[in-house]
Amino acid sequence: MPKLIPIDELNAELDAICLQIAAGKCIAVPTETVYGLAADASNGLAVARIFEMKGRPKFNPLICHVSDVEMARQIGEFDPLAEQLASAFWPGPLTLVLPLRQEYGIHPLVSANLGTVGLRYPVGPATKIIAACGKPLAAPSANRSGKISPTTAQHVVREFPESDLTVIDNGACSMGIESTIVKLESGSIRILRPGSVTAEMIEAATGIVPEVAGSNSDIEAPGMMASHYAPNAVLRLNQSTCPKASGLIAFGPGKDRDRCEAVETINLSETGDLAEAASRLYGALSALDEAGIETISVEPIPLTGLGVAINDRLCRAAAPKDDIT
Ligand code: TXA
Ligand code: MG
Repeated sequence: MPKLIPIDELNAELDAICLQIAAGKCIAVPTETVYGLAADASNGLAVARIFEMKGRPKFNPLICHVSDVEMARQIGEFDPLAEQLASAFWPGPLTLVLPLRQEYGIHPLVSANLGTVGLRYPVGPATKIIAACGKPLAAPSANRSGKISPTTAQHVVREFPESDLTVIDNGACSMGIESTIVKLESGSIRILRPGSVTAEMIEAATGIVPEVAGSNSDIEAPGMMASHYAPNAVLRLNQSTCPKASGLIAFGPGKDRDRCEAVETINLSETGDLAEAASRLYGALSALDEAGIETISVEPIPLTGLGVAINDRLCRAAAPKDDIT
């Protein structure tokens, strides 16, 4: 059984947690986006355990989490644009893919030998753990490969019920959708994965219009497989009707919904607030899965601002599962 540590007991448990990290164990830590499955990024065996626990089909690179910008600068090469993005959005849901400083000792499994490293300075108690352990932590989302990312400690427990994983319980994640990943190359910014830090926000902070990597961004963010974040149910996107016995993920006030025959409806945001919808998306997919619903219809969600990231995750959740490679 996983062991839950309530957030108000974190201080008392910090030493024990750092001992576990030093011994190469994985810990589930909350961030503002989703819960991560974290381990010492310089310990190859510990990192390999992350892949093993997740059942990741390939050794995709992992994001390295840091407790401050100084730690990030030791691991990756910051140019002025990286500094600008870090000061605008860190701590926060933005991952910077930068050239790796080999001498720091990040294990090659973390960077998948790409010569780059994904760096993230998250909001919340994860930074306290990283600072206490004095080491960057490699952490993918704390779910089995291809499944829905966890946004509560209970979701993590449900993914790894047989394990003895320590899970720091900080309640529901405030953002609920994974970080925006950007790659910086000679003054340009490429968005490899959309997230809560939108293209518009990046442009406003830097004056640079980011390029958006196409759907075939395999080489740039190898973890971005077509099928990902997937519930067991079949997802039908952009629906305005829903068949009998299906579930409905609604969005907005919706005047005509009374004709809907869904057995269970979850509205991501009654007011049509995209941030609220993002924070509730994975919880809604999990809840409908838990209810054993086999088909989920999803109402249209606007493709603006944070809606880009929400639609990105929905498309992946709806993709044929045999696309997982
Ligand atoms: O919000 C988040 O980013 C969460 C929390 C736990 O921080 N983490 C997360 O990690 O979503 P993960 O492993 O599920 O997704 C990491 C993505 C993958 O698609 C991977 O390919 C990409 O980041 N990535 C990591 N390092 C990279 C690199 N050096 N170059 C390109 N892509 C990289
Ligand atoms: Mg993930």
